Amino acid sequence: MARPRVYVTRALPGNGLTRLAARARLEIWPGSGTPPRAALEAGVAEAEGLLCLLTDPVDAGLLAAAPRLRVVSSCSVGLDHVDLAAATARGIPVGHTPGVLTETTADLTLALMLAAARRVVEADRLVRGGAWTEWRPDLLLGRDLHGATVGLIGLGAIGQAVARRLSGFGCRLLGWTRSGRTVPGVEPASLDGLLAGSDFVSLHVALTPETRGLLDPARLARMKPGAILVNAARGGLVDETALAARLRSGALAAAGLDVFDREPLPPSSPLLGVENVVLSPHIGSASVGTRIRMADLAVENLLAGLEGRPLPACANPELRTSGPTRPPGG
Ligand code: DGY
Repeated sequence: MARPRVYVTRALPGNGLTRLAARARLEIWPGSGTPPRAALEAGVAEAEGLLCLLTDPVDAGLLAAAPRLRVVSSCSVGLDHVDLAAATARGIPVGHTPGVLTETTADLTLALMLAAARRVVEADRLVRGGAWTEWRPDLLLGRDLHGATVGLIGLGAIGQAVARRLSGFGCRLLGWTRSGRTVPGVEPASLDGLLAGSDFVSLHVALTPETRGLLDPARLARMKPGAILVNAARGGLVDETALAARLRSGALAAAGLDVFDREPLPPSSPLLGVENVVLSPHIGSASVGTRIRMADLAVENLLAGLEGRPLPACANPELRTSGPTRPPGG
């Protein structure tokens, strides 16, 4: 029997693609960046499987251009780039990578909290710029994370992993979830109460139509004066223009951002001119081991879909037939 055709939008770390190549005919986008739309459409035209990244929009139009498609597997936990409803309507299971990146993303969240609070990037710039001329009692004073009140917006797997780390810092933890989920050690709070009462606010919810712009100008204005915002979830959760203004005015002490509404961050972004923000290029899950585990799970999802088995991590609940899966963002 002919091996099924699979379009892969980027070479992945590890040897998952070698395993896949033994059971499918792969076409791998040869470019170094995201395939342009026309290449993506041409790539899926005959494909039965699509292995993609979070930078590839899998919308209804793309699905329509892929009449033979039987499974989509994204090498990401977040699926805001996939039209899940359109895939479900076609009976196409969508795989993603929850669980394997939880701890690594929580580590990066702590790195951003500490870097923003203790002004680590400003300090590095100062030393490299030759401006370190003396030890001064007032040089680069920051804020303490230990003992602070930290508000966690979203208490899925990553939010809980961040909570575990912060309990070791002696933090008081407030939590808000849309579902009302409670977690031991995290005091449930209203969103407004969390914003007003937290020294640090950290975002851990998926980007959906309901959460887009969750931290709008009014909610950003409710944050405690001198608080610090951290976002390693999705950029679209925050109004970046309003955030930049609040950082510039000193209403917020600092921010640590790994994700942005438009990625890569365009040169016109108001955030680029702000001193008290630490910016990183969407590297929450970027450790060697985690990226390999993500690629492996993405390949397992794809193979399961091609072979008519339940996906190890399937995001469309209607098409799950067995196995524990977590929602996007978990
Ligand atoms: C994801 O997987 O959704 C992260 O944002 C990148 O690893």
